[in-house]
Amino acid sequence: MGVNSRRILMLMAKMMLLSAALLMLVVEAAATGGEGLIHKNIWPERRNLLANGLADTPPMGWNSWNHFGCNINESMIKETADAIVSTGLAKLGYKYVNIDDCWAESTRDEKGNFVARKSTFPSGIKALADYVHNKGLKLGIYSDSGSMTCSKTMPGSLGYEEQDAKTFASWGIDYLKYDNCNNEGLKPTVRYPIMTRALMNAGRPIFFSLCEWGDMHPALWGSKIGNSWRTTNDITDTWLSMMYIADMNEFYADFARPGGWNDPDMLEVGNGGMTKDEYIVHFSIWAISKAPLLIGCDVRDVAKETLNILGNMEVIAVNQDKLGVQAKKVRMEGDLEVWAGPLSKYRVVVLLVNRGPSTALMTAHWDDIGLPPDTTVVARDLWLHKALRQRPAGNLSATVASHACKMFVLKPVS
Ligand SMILES: *[C@@H]1O[C@H](CO)[C@@H](O)[C@H](O)[C@H]1NC(C)=O
Ligand SMILES: *[C@@H]1O[C@H](CO)[C@@H](O)[C@H](O)[C@H]1NC(C)=O
Repeated sequence: MGVNSRRILMLMAKMMLLSAALLMLVVEAAATGGEGLIHKNIWPERRNLLANGLADTPPMGWNSWNHFGCNINESMIKETADAIVSTGLAKLGYKYVNIDDCWAESTRDEKGNFVARKSTFPSGIKALADYVHNKGLKLGIYSDSGSMTCSKTMPGSLGYEEQDAKTFASWGIDYLKYDNCNNEGLKPTVRYPIMTRALMNAGRPIFFSLCEWGDMHPALWGSKIGNSWRTTNDITDTWLSMMYIADMNEFYADFARPGGWNDPDMLEVGNGGMTKDEYIVHFSIWAISKAPLLIGCDVRDVAKETLNILGNMEVIAVNQDKLGVQAKKVRMEGDLEVWAGPLSKYRVVVLLVNRGPSTALMTAHWDDIGLPPDTTVVARDLWLHKALRQRPAGNLSATVASHACKMFVLKPVS
């Protein structure tokens, strides 16, 4: 049989399989009144409303909310952009400077346009975007999928999606965080896609961050609508809140991938509510979870200790790894948890987290973390910045203090 006839036979076989699959869907659709056809992705290439190419790796940057709440203005946003560059954070990949709630006047202008709050952003958002862009950074902004934002100091975008998306694009906005307050009881699965379409029509690639709080399991539908989706309620600057959110976000690990990421909320590192070790756990879990790394402290006045955490290049590299697979908890023994996930080049990242009250010896076993049992690895400690002298085979043990972690990248050598 010639190459061509073999190709034709294979093509025919593929078509038969596809027709059979379609037939099953149609039968199912008839049985469920059409729902089946809508929910199954028969044509995967068309399933994304959002195809902006912006989230190959999780976004990195800063957001005003965790530290400043509503107390924001154009001078502190500019100073923050300056500090992101002067501290070296920009070089490490932190590029979004994101303005959260409270940036606009409480009413729109006579044409229905958003107006920057005159008392705090007198030069307007376009001028701020120009300033931030000149530093090589990107500007993010905030709106809400309801009638007002959560602070109730400014309008939301419900009913104004097309207009607001065009306004943001005309200002040079690069990122939109879209909140879920005052939503008039309309489902997020109805409200959010309207803004997705509006952004796609606005003529500028804008990262779309769904801040839906996990209300309707956005991990299940977010990748078609946004570049990231909040899986949880707001974080607070405490160990309990942070670990609670980490647990909830881990549940959805299988849904994260390049183009769309689970978002367990912004970082609290540097805000003072946790110990140094706890912040290291926070940053490590966010990194292996492929979470957006959005700094939430005042970078204009940042302690060296905080910079050492946020600026750990090796941990950032895990977050930004091209494979884009979110790590999971692979083993829990009481308060002792082993988290692990694959990285590019056959490497594995392992995080040993001790949630308990006392120091413990912890072990990661190869069969739990996805390495063949006889593999010998080089184990690099990402917080000590050095490889273990011994090359472990079969397992790796480490002593981990209370509310602390050890983080390793394992590279098979034989
Ligand atoms: C701008 O905001 C910062 C941070 O909240 C504050 O310290 C500063 O006084 C504000 N400046 C103006 C001009 O309002
Ligand atoms: C770890 O592996 C070594 C051999 O490489 C073995 O001797 C040891 O018993 C293992 N430890 C645990 C806790 O499984």
